[in-house]
Amino acid sequence: MKFFIDTANLDEIKEANALGILDGVTTNPSLMAKEGITGEKNILNHYIDICNIVDGPVSAEVISTDFEGIVREGEHLSGLHENIVVKVPMILEGIKAIKYFSSKGIKTNCTLIFSAGQALIAAKAGATYISPFLGRLDDISVNGLDLIAQIRQIYDNYAYDTEILAASVRHPMHIIHCAEIGSDVMTGPLKAIKALANHPLTTSGLETFLADHAKGNS
Ligand code: G3P
Repeated sequence: MKFFIDTANLDEIKEANALGILDGVTTNPSLMAKEGITGEKNILNHYIDICNIVDGPVSAEVISTDFEGIVREGEHLSGLHENIVVKVPMILEGIKAIKYFSSKGIKTNCTLIFSAGQALIAAKAGATYISPFLGRLDDISVNGLDLIAQIRQIYDNYAYDTEILAASVRHPMHIIHCAEIGSDVMTGPLKAIKALANHPLTTSGLETFLADHAKGNS
């Protein structure tokens, strides 16, 4: 399973990249605003900064909601760097734009996926990735993992190339369950990625090894 980090924070992206297990980055307008990145020029420059840190796909989201606007914005974004993936909202105008981008070889990430039907039409339009929002479904007492499994089955039935990019991942168990189901990618916060390394028996075992080594060498 590919690991993307879901943030626009350059320090966190650098830290995750330094681990050597990072495959890409996803951002969204809320994450950009959280970092205080505002204004078109600053936003575009920030995407370039991210692309210069990570050698992998970087999702940059359009703001337009009409076909012409999405195409204009997406073409501009994809021209910024070869690693840019144009993130398009799951609306019918977005589906039309994804079909257009697909015919032009521009990579897309269809975002705000909350149902199998949405995932199906995004794949038919030729989306490179679709982003089902796991945590936000859990937030409303709907099992987000069930949706990932349902989409996995549908895509496997027809051998769609579209990759399932589990988004709105909140904690390490989400990541593990996504891997069990066979999500192609997960995007999550740095904290959840780092938490995968933790186990109390590893911590206590290492403490013992180091203490025994120190005793033997004192
Ligand atoms: O990739 C989408 C993600 O950023 C949404 O996460 O935690 O805001 O639901 P969250």
